Amino acid sequence: MMRPFGRVPAVAAPAAAVAARTGAATFAEAEEPASSSSAVAVRGTTELARKQDAPALLSIEDVSVVFDGFHAISHVSTTVGEHDIRFFIGPNGAGKTTILDAICGKNRVAGGRIMFKGKYDLAKMKDYKIANLGVSRKFQAPSVFCGITILENMELAAANRHSLYSTTFLKLKKDTHDYIRYILDFIGLYDKRFDYPTRLSHGEKQWLEIGMLLTQHPDLLLLDEPVAGMSRRETEHTAELLQRVKQECSVIVVEHDMQFAKDVSDDVTVFHEGKVLAEGTMDEVSQNQTVIDVYLGRGGDQ
Ligand SMILES: Nc1ncnc2c1ncn2[C@@H]1O[C@H](COP(=O)(O)OP(=O)(O)O)[C@@H](O)[C@H]1O
Ligand SMILES: [Mg+2]
Repeated sequence: MMRPFGRVPAVAAPAAAVAARTGAATFAEAEEPASSSSAVAVRGTTELARKQDAPALLSIEDVSVVFDGFHAISHVSTTVGEHDIRFFIGPNGAGKTTILDAICGKNRVAGGRIMFKGKYDLAKMKDYKIANLGVSRKFQAPSVFCGITILENMELAAANRHSLYSTTFLKLKKDTHDYIRYILDFIGLYDKRFDYPTRLSHGEKQWLEIGMLLTQHPDLLLLDEPVAGMSRRETEHTAELLQRVKQECSVIVVEHDMQFAKDVSDDVTVFHEGKVLAEGTMDEVSQNQTVIDVYLGRGGDQ
């Protein structure tokens, strides 16, 4: 069995992210962003071109989400491949959470398609059906039950895949129990399995939640600000954990921590005012002047 948190290589902080941390400007002062017609796509690297040839696990095609006439997401398109870790970054209010909610069926889509495995248009499906197809969403608010043990939380999550009420712990198959043990080891909580979640640190609770989602064997995991409130050490552990999660499924992460994005992402999509501003590797978008102007150069992690 693999040990938890195998080492991943340390990566130097991107110059733009360092500059961002020292920058005093706020997004309230942000200049008019580039319009969709002048949006900067940082594509064309051989790496990204190669990935685009592979069939996409998720293909977001010209998607818009409208709240009472307000376009929170306007004509967004991007694709995520199998076993990719994609980061969605951008200032507050850019639409990152809104697009995650559109993928998992929590937000109604006003236009466009969200094709999953080339067959299913998630934009037309109910949230529970999307979950059963293999899309698991971690919300910012914790979903761990504090009155039951860590192991019981894992068992409940594994039983939950189809229905909370139709499956009991007793019906969990042996291979499910073995998988729960594997995941507990994977997230580094096996030795604490009989403890209650109240004894866990903030970071450990987040790993438990990721572990609970993994019991559902997702093909796509959606994480909204998973390292918010974590210590640097916990964030580094999460980076190592996600490198291993990537072997199990694809991941989309919404995050403001640019060092974490640099360490973990394959590619990043930069959102601004409901549109895709740029896309590419973290190194590529870090050098993009428009991205620096509207996000990284104005304090990145706000
Ligand atoms: N349920 C909602 N009703 C109305 N407006 C919303 C709703 N959810 C989000 N918004 C608005 O959509 C925009 C994008 O929000 P959000 O996706 O949460 O941004 P981000 O996650 O990038 O910070 C914001 O202006 C926000 O106020
Ligand atoms: Mg958000």
